Amino acid sequence: MGKRFFKQTIRDVDVERQTVLVRVDYNVPLHEDGTISDDFRIRASLPTIKYLLDHQCKLVLMSHLGRPEGRDEKLSLAPVAARLAELLGRSVMFIDDCVGDKVRQTVRHAPCGSIILLENLRFYKEEEADDASFAKALVKSSGASFFVQDAFGAAHRAHASTHAITLCLPSFAGLLIEKEYTAITDAMAHPAHPLVAVVGGAKVSDKIELVERLITVADKILIGGAMANTFLKYKGYEVGSSVFEDGQDEVLGRIYQKAEEKVGAERIADLLVLPPDVAVGNKQSSERREVAIDGIEPEDMALDIGSRTIDCFSAYLRGAGTIIWNGPVGYTDNEVFSYGSARIALAVASNTKAISVVGGGDTADFVLKWDGNGGASFTHVSTGGGASLELMSGKKLPGIESLLDAYGPGVVH
Ligand code: 3PG
Repeated sequence: MGKRFFKQTIRDVDVERQTVLVRVDYNVPLHEDGTISDDFRIRASLPTIKYLLDHQCKLVLMSHLGRPEGRDEKLSLAPVAARLAELLGRSVMFIDDCVGDKVRQTVRHAPCGSIILLENLRFYKEEEADDASFAKALVKSSGASFFVQDAFGAAHRAHASTHAITLCLPSFAGLLIEKEYTAITDAMAHPAHPLVAVVGGAKVSDKIELVERLITVADKILIGGAMANTFLKYKGYEVGSSVFEDGQDEVLGRIYQKAEEKVGAERIADLLVLPPDVAVGNKQSSERREVAIDGIEPEDMALDIGSRTIDCFSAYLRGAGTIIWNGPVGYTDNEVFSYGSARIALAVASNTKAISVVGGGDTADFVLKWDGNGGASFTHVSTGGGASLELMSGKKLPGIESLLDAYGPGVVH
């Protein structure tokens, strides 16, 4: 018997012709003019929506967008309704509120097969407060008989629409939740070895738990991004004018201690691999100069990994059975310093035998642009930023934990 997802999904319930309240994560990036700059998260919600439509459901979709304080028209979900309609090739009704009589009447009179998107949940402060009465109001206004959680990107939040609501309605996982959870936890818990992780981004403090978890499960952890500067400084290198994070010695001491316990003092550098060289310059410049890590001058600012590092990291990635990538390895806002991340993306994508899981947020934004094909060069590109980081770090996500448990043989957590 194969293992199965530990929560009940929409496949486990008779949804035929039901009204279903679905939490999606349509927190999409917007251009200055309010148009959507990347619809990855909207596309990722389509399998669940199509499944429910195939079963003649009436769909009431709800999401947050941004972090508004009260009602803010710039953060209306109306443009998302239009984009969703384009992607589905059918009409999507938009209601400029998420609770109340307007919602109740519209849903009630809509025929089966209708798709209704509610206005930004965070226009109500009760949403983030995980307010039980607000959750009840969402349920009552929608008239739904089931709740479906498909907002992987928001599943690390215990908010009214991700947590309190599960106390009001029978609650099932959508297909995106199942896919994300399975891809990420399988890669971490049952990897094909060697498991090679690339960890980048700005701050060690954001990724301590991830690095600690990786020390237990990974065979190699390749450190890049501004985070590498903090590691280099701890190891006694001068990092010049590079960005690094103060006050992390104790944390790094703990990380190195854990690494030593796992592989022994002589092999730490094989497990926690630091860049042998970096590319320096300034954030706006079009020039990059590469220097060895023992040659960083006081005025140098490290903004990317250097060529020797790219070759070294790429060689490890070529031989990997599983790859986890969380955090760009350079300053990707400037194309000149996105070179290292592009070469890492190439190395990951070229290893077609490996399972490759790319954590969301900045890394997903980068690989999606690099790939230009919805992330098809990778096994899994997560739609979650904080959610994928937390799940990779071994944390439980309240928006998933609160769903109905699956039962029967082969259920794994
Ligand atoms: C995200 O973009 O990571 C999710 O949509 C969660 O958004 P939040 O960090 O504002 O809660």
